[in-house]
Amino acid sequence: MSARILDGKVIALEVTEALRPRIAQLARPPGLAVVLVGDDPASAVYVRNKTRRAGELGMVQRQITLPATTSEADLLALVDALNADDAIDGILVQLPLPAGLDKDRVLDRIAPEKDVDGFHPINTGKLWQRRPALVPCTPAGVVELLRRTGVALRGVDAIVVGRSNIVGKPMVALLEQQDCTVTLAHSRTRDLAGAVGRADVVVAAVGVLELVKGAWIKPGAIVIDVGMNKRPDGKLGGDVEFGPATERAGWITPVPGGVGPMTIAMLLANTVGAAERASR
Ligand code: GUN
Repeated sequence: MSARILDGKVIALEVTEALRPRIAQLARPPGLAVVLVGDDPASAVYVRNKTRRAGELGMVQRQITLPATTSEADLLALVDALNADDAIDGILVQLPLPAGLDKDRVLDRIAPEKDVDGFHPINTGKLWQRRPALVPCTPAGVVELLRRTGVALRGVDAIVVGRSNIVGKPMVALLEQQDCTVTLAHSRTRDLAGAVGRADVVVAAVGVLELVKGAWIKPGAIVIDVGMNKRPDGKLGGDVEFGPATERAGWITPVPGGVGPMTIAMLLANTVGAAERASR
């Protein structure tokens, strides 16, 4: 068997194009502020991709780049100003922050209704209670990819490998909402091969190149690879051994071109949703 490829570039384009009529309905364009502190090159690329697509859709995008020496007080003052700015519906502070800046204090300062990353504890709590909330973009994008397979998720066994606040933990909440039976595996899991082998849906989000072996995959399973790791040759590689996994999986996402574009699409969808709520 050879897995069908879930093309995140194509699906992300469909998701963002579907935002255009919603944007056109609004009295003013949705506004997204992206704050980048320091000069981490990978972060600069992510931020450029996020703001570029926002601009293509006619959204107001404001990129604020601050030096790595920025004080926490100055960064908090910027967040306060964006919270109070009626032209801005979504605020994203790119992570990681330079040493000396307290990530939690900064993220907690973002108004929950403008927290388009879905990282604020208020949004985390609402997500787990199945209340309306801004949902973290990468796991939301994974749910959209799963939906596009057309495979019924009710009652199936899903495994999430990796327990980060950004991906793994909210992913568990979202898969539970899809009525999956969810296992959360992590670096201390004793029998990862066995646990992955029982799963109908595998979401790999550990950040370890090819940790999940193709031979572990249950025949026909859906494999979603959130990993973005550097290979020894400098190219990008996922958390799943792609070639061998395609021999067993029913569906699989490539790296790059799988989950990555979906993260940006869901960020823009979150921003449009925030603008719609602000306009009511
Ligand atoms: N750094 C890596 N991924 C993300 C993300 O989704 N949001 C933010 N703000 N920073 C990140």
